[in-house]
Parts: sequence; C-alpha cells; structure tokens
Amino acid sequence: MDAPHALSRAGSQTRHSMPASGADVHLLAISGSLRAGSSNTALLTAAVRLAPPRVTVALYPSVAVLPHFDPELDAPDGGRLPDQVAELRKLVGRADGLLLSTPEYAHGLPGAFKNALDWLVGSVELPGKAVAVMSPTARSVHAQAQLREVLTTMSARIVERASVVVPLASRAMDADDIVADQTLAVALRSALAAIAADVRSMRRSDVRAR
Ligand SMILES: Cc1cc2nc3c(=O)[nH]c(=O)nc-3n(C[C@H](O)[C@H](O)[C@H](O)COP(=O)(O)O)c2cc1C
Repeated sequence: MDAPHALSRAGSQTRHSMPASGADVHLLAISGSLRAGSSNTALLTAAVRLAPPRVTVALYPSVAVLPHFDPELDAPDGGRLPDQVAELRKLVGRADGLLLSTPEYAHGLPGAFKNALDWLVGSVELPGKAVAVMSPTARSVHAQAQLREVLTTMSARIVERASVVVPLASRAMDADDIVADQTLAVALRSALAAIAADVRSMRRSDVRAR
C-alpha cells in the first residue's frame, strides 16, 4: 500500500517516520486529545520516531478538524461526505494498522475522539483493520474499556500484544523525553514490532487462503 498522506486541509502536516522507502507496514496514529501538550499525542509522536525497520508511522494531525458526525451526510453514494471525513477514511484505508491513544474524561471517551470513530462506523475501511489500543497511563481504564467495546462493535481487530500501557513518569513528558527513556522506548518499539508482525502474519494467511 502507499504510505498514508498528509492531510491537505488540516493546517498542520501528518508526521511520518523516516525513511518510508522499503517499508512494508504503514501505520496511522490517532490521538484522542486536542491538547498541544498532550501526553497521548506525545506517546504517538514518539512512536513515529521509534518505528522499527520497514515500518512507518504517520500521525493524524487532529480529530478537531472533523465536523460533528451526521448520519445524513454519510449516505451510501458518499455525495455529501465532508472532505475532512473522506480524507480520514482514505488515510485509514491506506494504513495497514492503527495506533490509538486517548485520554479519559469523566470516565468516558473524549467527544472529539468518539466523533472521529463515529465517522468510521459506516466506512468500509475499519473492519478487519489491525488496531493497537495504547495509553500513556494505567489510570484511564473506563476510556480503554469503552474504546475496546466501540472497536469490537466496528469489527476492528484489536492486536493485544501491541495494546500496551507505556507509563509516563509525568504528564509533562514530551516525545523527546519518551524516545530518550530506554524503558519507555523499548516498550513502545516492541508494541510497534508486535502490530507489524500481526499485519504481516495476516497478509501471509490471506495469500495462503487465495
Ligand atoms: C474535564 C476532565 C475530566 C477528566 N476525567 C478523568 C477521568 O475520568 N479519569 C481519568 O483517569 N482522568 C481524567 N482526566 C485526566 C485526563 O485524562 C488527563 O489530564 C490526561 O492526561 C489528558 O490526556 P492528554 O495529556 O493526552 O491531553 C480528566 C481531565 C479533565 C480535564
């Protein structure tokens, strides 16, 4: 598949791990937080930089660019689908797997993040897609459980070995701090290797089934 592209209208660019050439597994990372100093986004930004050989990770700019979900705009002919949603679906469709990391607000998923997931319910892009449910903290258990329930309902394939808590010592840690921390970097890199291995293994089974 092609590497996921930068969003053209989001104002900020999708960040890619380098180099993309020769990579056979392309992952799209989506953060549930809108905060500039987000620990969830920091974790995923570190994932972009820690991608193992032959794996790329692109960071989706922000779920804030998406309009509120409206099923009436999601008609089967796609004629009224907002451009930002069509772009999200394209990026998800081109990715071999997703990395998701979200905060918890009032024991639930952030509205903007659930909104992004709602736009993917009617899509053909998500079912069967490998997904790693990641977290920078062990505290947000309700959001993790809800995210898993939503993903299962949407027929995504949660890759357990890649679904890890990478416990940041402090919410103030940024991507540089995570990459520089040996324990965190090893945990993140092994989660990325696990989802890449899962994608390759499914690909081999698909070929055998043909
Ligand atoms: C309004 C509000 C509600 C929150 N509710 C919860 C909660 O129910 N459970 C929890 O573990 N953390 C809760 N938090 C803490 C956030 O999850 C925490 O600040 C997290 O670091 C935010 O993620 P970010 O750093 O990626 O933005 C809440 C924070 C805010 C601002």
